[in-house]
Amino acid sequence: MPTFTEAATVQAWVREARTIAALTGAGMSAESGVPTFRDAQTGLWARFNPEELATEAAFRANPQRVWDWYASRREMMKDVAPNAGHQAIAAFQRRHPGRLTLITQNVDGLHQKAGSTGALALHGNIFEDIWLDPCAGARGRAGICDVSLAEPGRPPHCADCGNPLRPGVVWFGEMLPAGALAAAEQAADHCDLMLVIGTSGAVYPAAGLAHTARQGGARVVVINPEPSELDGVAHALLRGKAAELLPALLND
Ligand code: APR
Repeated sequence: MPTFTEAATVQAWVREARTIAALTGAGMSAESGVPTFRDAQTGLWARFNPEELATEAAFRANPQRVWDWYASRREMMKDVAPNAGHQAIAAFQRRHPGRLTLITQNVDGLHQKAGSTGALALHGNIFEDIWLDPCAGARGRAGICDVSLAEPGRPPHCADCGNPLRPGVVWFGEMLPAGALAAAEQAADHCDLMLVIGTSGAVYPAAGLAHTARQGGARVVVINPEPSELDGVAHALLRGKAAELLPALLND
C-alpha cells in the first residue's frame, strides 16, 4: 500500500532517478485557473456532461453545439498562463536534457507554453483544428481540403466538399495518436521514477501508464490534493497542489 510521504523523500528519489516520466492531468492546470475536466461545467454548459459533448457522435449530431463548446473553452484558455508547476517541469527539462519525459492528458497547451519540449500530448491540442472526414472532393475530384479555403462558420467547412473542421483533440471512444502513445509506453516502461500529477486516473490508456511504470520497476508517486484511482499503484502519495509541490521536488 502507498504511504503518505514527505516531499523531501520524493525530492531524493528525483535526484537518484536517471530517467523520469511525468504523467499530467487537468489538475496540473488548476492553479492556472483552468477548471479540471470533471469540474462542474459553468454557464450555459452547466446542463451538459463533458462526456456528452466530447464525442464524434455528439459532433455529428449537433456540430454547432460541440463547436461552440470548444470555442468557449478556447476563449477561456487563450490568455491563461502556465503556473509554477508547468514552469518547474520545463526548467528541469532544460537543466537535464532527455532525463524527464513529459506525458500529458491536457489539451490546453500550457506545458508547451511554459517551454516544455517533446511533450507527448496523448489527447491532442484544443487550439488545433482537423478535418472531420477525408476530403470528398467536390465534382468527383478527390482533393485535400484546404484549411485556407474553409468557409467561415460554426464549424468552418471545406468550400469544396462541405467537410467540417473539428477540434484537434481525442474524443471519447477515439484512438490516441499512435506515435505519442507508443513513446509514452516506452517512457513509462523504462523510467526509474514516474510522477503522476493532477489526474483522477479515470481514463485509459493514459492512466494505464502508471501501471506500466510500476510493472517496469519504477518508483511511482501520485501528486494530488485528493485521492485518485491511481493511488493503489503508487509507492508514495503527496497530498498537495502541483504548482506548490513541483518547484521544490524538481529543484535538482
Ligand atoms: N494540483 C494537483 N492535482 C489537482 C489540483 C492541483 N492544484 N486540483 C485538482 N487536482 C486533481 C483532482 O483531485 C483530480 O484528481 O486533478 C484531477 C483532475 O481529474 P479530472 O478532472 O478527471 O482530469 P483528468 O484526470 O486529466 O482527466 C483525464 O479524461 O475526460 C478525459 O480527456 C479528458 O484528459 C482528460 C482525461
